[in-house]
Amino acid sequence: MVPTVEWKDGKVRLIDQTRLPREVVYIDYTDYRDVTGAIRDLVVRGAPAIGVTAALGVALGAQEIEADRHEEFLARLQPICDHLASARPTAVNLFWAIERMRKFAAAQNKLSLKDLKKALIEEAVRMGEEDIAVNRAMGAFGAEFVGDPATILTHCNAGSLATVGYGTALGVIYAAREQGKQVRVFADETRPILQGARLTAWELMEEGVDVTLITDNMAGHFMKQGMIDLVVVGTDRTVANGDVANKIGTYSVAVLAKEHGIPFYVAAPTSTIDFSIPTGDGIPIEERDPREVTCICNQLEIAPEGVKVKSPAFDVTPARYITAIITEKGAFRPADLHKLNDPEADPESFRLHPAGA
Ligand code: MRU
Repeated sequence: MVPTVEWKDGKVRLIDQTRLPREVVYIDYTDYRDVTGAIRDLVVRGAPAIGVTAALGVALGAQEIEADRHEEFLARLQPICDHLASARPTAVNLFWAIERMRKFAAAQNKLSLKDLKKALIEEAVRMGEEDIAVNRAMGAFGAEFVGDPATILTHCNAGSLATVGYGTALGVIYAAREQGKQVRVFADETRPILQGARLTAWELMEEGVDVTLITDNMAGHFMKQGMIDLVVVGTDRTVANGDVANKIGTYSVAVLAKEHGIPFYVAAPTSTIDFSIPTGDGIPIEERDPREVTCICNQLEIAPEGVKVKSPAFDVTPARYITAIITEKGAFRPADLHKLNDPEADPESFRLHPAGA
């Protein structure tokens, strides 16, 4: 799998996802402000990838800090964190990762400035390694719910490209394949900016997975024909009652799946769960540039000049449409998700098992 984000020779290296699948190009960042721009402009996208990129951005920014005392260092780190946090509002991983870096820096009050800067790089790199391990664990739990053979519909890109590696929703598919199951994927193209067509189709083809690209409005047709066995998607923020924000169009897919009796799974690393928000109504939804709707690939204008446009990047799927939320701790009914927030609770006691297991 191609590396999505990494720390390389003192720089943050990202694969430029705006240019895929036409060309595979890496960009090296030496200034944290440009890392913020890369997140905002979707050079890197997908909740877990955004989180780790921001952590590396904090580490990068920290290298510039001149300070005599630890408190002074922390005071100078704060605007760097704030800058990175302003990149996008919906994916909670961004804020989770920045906060983890900030707390880590605050706790290292015995280190010299030089060692603290080094430790911040190591912490961000560790977060990247953890992301891959979490995705593999989640994939293994999710694969239990995949039949053999199975045709799986997915929306947007929640694959290796949306994470540091392996993916969340696509991680479930990779794990099912590793278990020897025969899987086929239907990938929604994912308007307006086509993450499904540009990224998921490319990534799955690179991995040798049998993938069929469809436009978003074809999903119901294929469900009605009995061609889809299950749906699996990722999430940008999942809240306490099990409501899930994910790429715009996910809600429509979930409603269609329920109508057709098709299980709908969300692959959600615990880093995307925000227990501080009670219901999906509280999730901030990013509104993006109208040109993403009126223009294809920022090139071809397809709408009359001056037309009114709405461009929400995400929608919220209510918990009642979701069969299970798959995490690295197991799969859970949305109604049980809040129990994960209880440090005393044993996830094994309320984990969901596939029917017949
Ligand atoms: O706007 P994007 O491309 O960042 O949106 C990404 C998604 O909606 C993904 O499905 C989500 O981040 C989960 S990624 C593992």
